[in-house]
Amino acid sequence: MDFKTIVPGAGGVVALPADALMVLLTGDTLPAGLDAPLAALLAAAVKDGDLSLKAGQQLYAHRVPGVKAARVAFVHAGDGSAKALRKAVLGGAALLKGGGAKNLAVMMADPGVLTEVHAEALVSAIAEAVYVYRQTKPSAPAASRLASVGLVCTKAQSAALGAGLERGQAVAAGVALARECANLPGNHCTPGFLADQARKLGKDHGLKVEVLNRKDCEKLGMGSFLAVAQGSAEPLKFIVARWQGADKSDAPVVLVGKGITFDTGGISIKPAGDMDEMKFDMGGAASVLGTLRAVAQLKAKVNLIGIIPACENMPSSTAVKPGDVVTSMSGQTIEILNTDAEGRLILCDALTYAERFEPAAVVDIATLTGACVVALGHHRSGLFSSDDALATELLAAGEQALDPAWRMPLDEEYDEALKSNFADMGNVGGRAGGAITAAMFLKRFTAKMRWAHLDVAGTAWNSGKAKGATGRPVALLTHFVLARAR
Ligand code: BES
Ligand code: MN
Ligand code: ZN
Repeated sequence: MDFKTIVPGAGGVVALPADALMVLLTGDTLPAGLDAPLAALLAAAVKDGDLSLKAGQQLYAHRVPGVKAARVAFVHAGDGSAKALRKAVLGGAALLKGGGAKNLAVMMADPGVLTEVHAEALVSAIAEAVYVYRQTKPSAPAASRLASVGLVCTKAQSAALGAGLERGQAVAAGVALARECANLPGNHCTPGFLADQARKLGKDHGLKVEVLNRKDCEKLGMGSFLAVAQGSAEPLKFIVARWQGADKSDAPVVLVGKGITFDTGGISIKPAGDMDEMKFDMGGAASVLGTLRAVAQLKAKVNLIGIIPACENMPSSTAVKPGDVVTSMSGQTIEILNTDAEGRLILCDALTYAERFEPAAVVDIATLTGACVVALGHHRSGLFSSDDALATELLAAGEQALDPAWRMPLDEEYDEALKSNFADMGNVGGRAGGAITAAMFLKRFTAKMRWAHLDVAGTAWNSGKAKGATGRPVALLTHFVLARAR
């Protein structure tokens, strides 16, 4: 789909050659400056009590006299913020869905409020509205006919809003890639599949991609990652993908994504209910691929490296057992008290591997703990970092990208829970503060780097009727990386 800015000519928006027009309203009074046919319709609808000027209110009108676009949707966008715009456009797109519209023009009744962030939010809302998973569902509805979307603005706004649309499209493509990978079931999205996706991304967008196999990981001494993978017949992959957009000497940002393509829990097996959702346990890995795609598409002047340890967590006669002690790549030993706390076991070796790149910052992204879902629900991702400046950057990126996170503590007192009589640490710390003790475990492997951890267990996918991957936190990560490029 194509997005562009539209500066209406003398005929106004009613003369635009679009076949659908979405008018976004703000405030509780009728907007000034709307073209006469739209203003008249809106005034009449409000007077007749068919539309009230409140957030979320909608009105659809067909073949309005004096308006070239056959379909007109009025949607109230609350306070006119980018967040409110996104919500309104999502709602408005549903009004136009199923219709024959190919070219949509979107206008803010008060165009003065539009910023780059609004433009980006528009793209994300449209992309979300038209997304349909169909890879393993031949009966899924046909693709939307929508081919182009124009954002109505003034000449003075056009350049800035155009940049927002461009960034929005890159983020949307990254989000779509992350969603497609994560939505695929575990028998399709295997570690090998993720490696192929990375290789394809490399070919299409100019990334250097390297895939290590079990033997390579053995040579590197990744005893912790190998322990998780040993219960599965599916070969592990350790994926390293590099985007070089800046000088070779520039320290890279490194993203490490948890790539458990299915988490049964292993010998500490999970209950059957909702276990299918553990196909989403590679959501962190998917977000790394999505972010690499977005950053490469924008040709950002930054060096970015994505690292993905990928394997299955299965119970079998070769699986790791509770009480087994393994030696991580860092040399620290780990008593695996619960084989279901496998995410931290694969991430710790990937974090140690990241040291070789002497990163400016390393951020790991993982569907790590059910405890994080209990703490923060499904709206904000959990952010952990001992580095205040890095935490501030990531939080700001999340707010700007409408992909918010919330900072959680990492006081050393929490480390107590990881003590073991048989190894340098245990891999679990009990129920209390489970998201924090998981982060404390990772912290033990990151002393040499500026590090942050995003627990996306509550945000990477939706459950219930709308079950499916969200593509989060690609938007947050892309904003974070782009801010470092400028
Ligand atoms: N992938 C899960 C975390 C998870 C669980 C995410 C449910 C979303 C919903 C992770 O590997 C896991 O199993 N974590 C355990 C850790 C525990 C054994 C300390 C958990 O959260 O129960
Ligand atoms: Mn688990
Ligand atoms: Zn897991």
